[in-house]
Amino acid sequence: MIRERKTEGDMRYMRKIKSIFVLVLLCIVLPACGGSATETSKPEGAVTEESQGEESEFQEDENLTIADITPMELVADMKVGWSLGNTLDAHGKIGLMSEICWGNPRTTREMIDAVVDQGFNVIRIPVTWVGHVSAPPEYEINEEWMARVKEVVDYAYDRDVYVIINLHHEEWLYPSYENEEKIIQRVTALWKQIAEEFKDYDEHLIFEGLNEPRKIGTNVEWNGGDKEGQEVVNHVLAEFVKVVRESGGNNKLRHLMIPGYGASSSERAIKAIELPEDDKLIVSVHAYIPYDFALNTAGRAQWNNDTKDIDELMELLETKFICKEIPVIIGEFGAMNKENDEDRIAWVKYYISAAKKIGVPCVWWDNNAFTTDGENFGLLDRRTCTFPNEELVEIIISAAQ
Ligand code: GLC
Repeated sequence: MIRERKTEGDMRYMRKIKSIFVLVLLCIVLPACGGSATETSKPEGAVTEESQGEESEFQEDENLTIADITPMELVADMKVGWSLGNTLDAHGKIGLMSEICWGNPRTTREMIDAVVDQGFNVIRIPVTWVGHVSAPPEYEINEEWMARVKEVVDYAYDRDVYVIINLHHEEWLYPSYENEEKIIQRVTALWKQIAEEFKDYDEHLIFEGLNEPRKIGTNVEWNGGDKEGQEVVNHVLAEFVKVVRESGGNNKLRHLMIPGYGASSSERAIKAIELPEDDKLIVSVHAYIPYDFALNTAGRAQWNNDTKDIDELMELLETKFICKEIPVIIGEFGAMNKENDEDRIAWVKYYISAAKKIGVPCVWWDNNAFTTDGENFGLLDRRTCTFPNEELVEIIISAAQ
């Protein structure tokens, strides 16, 4: 169930009330103490450790270097995004070499600059941590790996665009009741360390709890999931929110992205999303639709003005979330290259405009593949830092303005 969300005004009001409460307490207590600075015994009704804690927490809040804005405000500032796909999310137990083990070159500042200069203002950096952690129960993240992730995040963060990091191909994460406790332990161990590392970053850095949590290899992998899977995903993500909030620094106010089962765009998965009570959450949905055109390698190359799936999804997102002031990001979308740029251009124009109408920014999945046998979602040629399908990229940017 979606809980009622506190507005920005409500939060400020609560803080004001809290500080007035502390002041009133002080007024009662000081005369009772005789105003003496040397008085050490605590008279009845004195400021308790608890209320002192509240006071210092309030002051600490004022030292934060993150804007206290609503997630609707944050998302409204996003135009269109680009993913550094098949790179830091690639995996193999080979240390820092994992970044290039799926055939992509090592990420450079020039690559990210090229994307930002083109007009993308959201950079999603999927990261797989498995293979870079110590044994359970600590799951201590390898220092060099953390430093490399930070370096790549900084390429984008330094450009004042929005940056999204996540737990991506964590394929050990099989959401069943039996595994729930173990999954929570592992996910929170990872997020605790990541949150600590990035706690000084401002609102431009967003944490996406999980990528596409699902029962891999089953018949409910891609259909929106079963009740068990959906529930466990909701529980794990509630713990993610909790551990990030507890980690302090700017993480108290950081915006967090929450996918449903498989980050699926199916009605079943979207309707099953239960957001924890928190006023800085953004729903994450992945939607390569219509599937036959956008993602199915054996599917069709023609778009045929087939708007049905897109229209239905936008309507669902609007009624389930946007109307309740819960923002959504389409964290992955794209249509693979089938030598069909004319169709892709017409499709992307329609897709982005439809999403824009309800205030949803879309993030293109770019895996730097252009003419392989598999998924060709390349936009940026990372070796030359240019965009070979120029018109397509221009339309992506202009449709989002
Ligand atoms: C998912 C996968 C990614 C894949 C993409 C498109 O995000 O994590 O590896 O390429 O979807 O299928």
